Amino acid sequence: MLCLGIETSCDETALALVRDGNLLDSVLASQADIHAIFGGVVPELASREHCRYIGPLFDELVQRNGIMPMQIDVVSVARGPGLLGSLLVGVAFAKALSLGVNARFLGINHLHAHLLATGLEQNFSLPALGLLVSGGHTHLYYIQDINNFIQIGKTLDDAAGEAFDKVGKMLGLPYPCGRIIDALAVAGTADPHLFPRPYLHNDNLDFSFSGLKTAALSRLRDYPELRKHARSLKSAGEAPDILKNFCASFNLAVVDTVCAKTQRALEAHPDIHTLLFAGGVASNTMLRGRMTELMRRRRGGALSPSPALCTDNAAMIAYTAWLFAEENFYHTLRMEAIPRGKPVPDDMVGNGRRRAA
Ligand code: KG4
Ligand code: ZN
Repeated sequence: MLCLGIETSCDETALALVRDGNLLDSVLASQADIHAIFGGVVPELASREHCRYIGPLFDELVQRNGIMPMQIDVVSVARGPGLLGSLLVGVAFAKALSLGVNARFLGINHLHAHLLATGLEQNFSLPALGLLVSGGHTHLYYIQDINNFIQIGKTLDDAAGEAFDKVGKMLGLPYPCGRIIDALAVAGTADPHLFPRPYLHNDNLDFSFSGLKTAALSRLRDYPELRKHARSLKSAGEAPDILKNFCASFNLAVVDTVCAKTQRALEAHPDIHTLLFAGGVASNTMLRGRMTELMRRRRGGALSPSPALCTDNAAMIAYTAWLFAEENFYHTLRMEAIPRGKPVPDDMVGNGRRRAA
């Protein structure tokens, strides 16, 4: 079965082909350079860029794989959550294409796809704990099966990636800042007392990173030279110790906080031996090490897609579509895009019945 996946939920226009669960090929146009000028994603610009790239990228993908569009069995698209204007570009293209080539149509939950993408590279069994740490979300899920994700924790304000990006922006680092802070942190020495571990004195599984951002702002006032060093940064290795150590301390505070709540979730679910973690922040060097260690102590496994599949990509959409199509689920063309902040409805149809919630 040949599945096309389309991803336009934020600032990457991406398409991928998955055949029988294996990634065949993918194409991606990143808009990071354009949004970097503004220090964050500008929704109107993002939609326009998706419109500009989606057609040529589709042509490139099918041509270089010698595929006739009529050979595509399933056209799938990230339906949300995301920027509505951006999602609409992908959804409209996918609906038209599925009609044109007479393929089945599937709208995929972008957040679930991030976690299920682990299956492209590694086998895992469910139930599992899912930790999604991206630019827009920090969620914990009890994943019963591919169509039953129970959200058990969420961020109350900034997402983990957003915390990296906002603190990076205060420093004057180019957007997106997570990868740069990670590289600086690896080269530095963390002071575990420089930043708080926010929102741990409770018994829930939610996150709140806004206090960490405020703490970073006040540390920056104490050390104004940090901004000067960050703005003239050439490479992580050449950065002065004060900047590397600041980033190491901030990185440690975020990772400690994410780990504390993940551990709490694992303790509440002793039946779980697999942790799936994904999203842009899942490529963080320290977080990967700490998650592996956490699950090793539990005699389980911490599995994550490789870094290229952790950030937004279309392979995760095509692969998740393949999982659903194998179970004979699909969408009608009534399916709608879902903006950020709204729940993605459970409205697939399959085998002539609505699937169970
Ligand atoms: O999953 P993603 O591509 O976007 C969303 O769907 O939101 O994640 C992007 C986020 C950005 O906030 C970026 O700064 C962060 O992931 N990020 C990282 C790292 N690589 C990307 N954060 C920390 N460490 C990294 N190595
Ligand atoms: Zn994402």
